[in-house]
Amino acid sequence: MGLLQLGPFLLLAVWAYTAIAMESHEHHLHISTLMMKVEGQLEAIQTLQDNIKKTLEEIRAAQSGARTTSQQAACLGNTYSLDTKSSFVMKDEIVTMNNGHSIRMDDILYGYDWVFESKRLFSAGSWLGVQNQQDPADVAAIQQLVWDIKPKVIYDIGTNVGGSAILFAHIMSQYAKPGEATIVSVDPKHYSINWDDAAKQLCPKCTSVDSNPLWNNYVQFVQARSVEPQAIAALEAAIAKYGGPVLISVDGWHEYPEVYEECVTFAKYVTVGSYMIVQDTKLDRIFNKPGPRQAVYDCLVNNTNFVIDKSREVFLYTQHSDGFLRREH
Ligand SMILES: C[S@@+](CC[C@H](N)C(=O)[O-])C[C@H]1O[C@@H](n2cnc3c(N)ncnc32)[C@H](O)[C@@H]1O
Ligand SMILES: *[C@@H]1O[C@H](CO)[C@@H](O)[C@H](O)[C@H]1NC(C)=O
Repeated sequence: MGLLQLGPFLLLAVWAYTAIAMESHEHHLHISTLMMKVEGQLEAIQTLQDNIKKTLEEIRAAQSGARTTSQQAACLGNTYSLDTKSSFVMKDEIVTMNNGHSIRMDDILYGYDWVFESKRLFSAGSWLGVQNQQDPADVAAIQQLVWDIKPKVIYDIGTNVGGSAILFAHIMSQYAKPGEATIVSVDPKHYSINWDDAAKQLCPKCTSVDSNPLWNNYVQFVQARSVEPQAIAALEAAIAKYGGPVLISVDGWHEYPEVYEECVTFAKYVTVGSYMIVQDTKLDRIFNKPGPRQAVYDCLVNNTNFVIDKSREVFLYTQHSDGFLRREH
């Protein structure tokens, strides 16, 4: 019950009390004064209530105005219209922060892509002491995926110094004993050499991967390009020995022709329900040319048994948007 509805009851109660208590003229006068006071206070409440209603209406109007179209959003301070090259989940949402800034989700996420590249943060991360070229959001998202699928064979394209192999091996070690599952990690360059000369400065405490027991227990390194016969032979031998699920991680040479070839070549090895993770699809947009992301789209034209699984982009920020490909049948 609102205060306004209470008003008449309050008046009635006071009148009733008056009727009983009326003993003297003075007393009656005093009560009349109090009555007038109550009436005045009720009016003040009414005015306050009206003001609150008006303010609430203003808030509602402002809120509906904030959910605008791209065009209107472009007029909101420094919120620009949506970049059509974005493939982030919720890319077009406007985030209004308590510092008074309104900014598009895409600018937040793509802005972080720029920070990550320009500060060379890809060399800042490590897993169990091994330099790992994965951003933290994707480390977590990939961990969730690998734990869900529990692959027996992971084909780790692009070893570099073993950071992704060690991450995969660590997760694998929690659901399979050595000899029950494996990672075939391939790179034409030896894992003792980092392709990024500056990596040592960004990760001064990083250690060599072969001093980690997980490397010896779970990883087979093949020094070759991913599509070379000896690499494919190692993958097929692993599948023959350990079975599925099979997961493919594409993180080698990030140019369109290589990624397209890898996607088309390795799609058939992915078991139903498992994934191919095509990494660094963000590069198409950063370099403004067809790259890993376009390779995914073209690869899926003929591999219609795969779907892009947006539900794997759990933290919205990912460097592999549209790159989590699940085999459906
Ligand atoms: C981005 S790094 C890989 C990072 C690593 N996966 C990690 O998360 O720490 C890319 C690596 O791919 C290797 N590479 C280049 N061409 C390749 C190919 N055709 N097959 C496999 N690896 C390749 C490069 O030598 C380089 O070490
Ligand atoms: C799909 O496969 C056909 C037949 O092999 C080929 O000609 C075509 O280029 C492929 N399309 C794409 C987008 O890869």
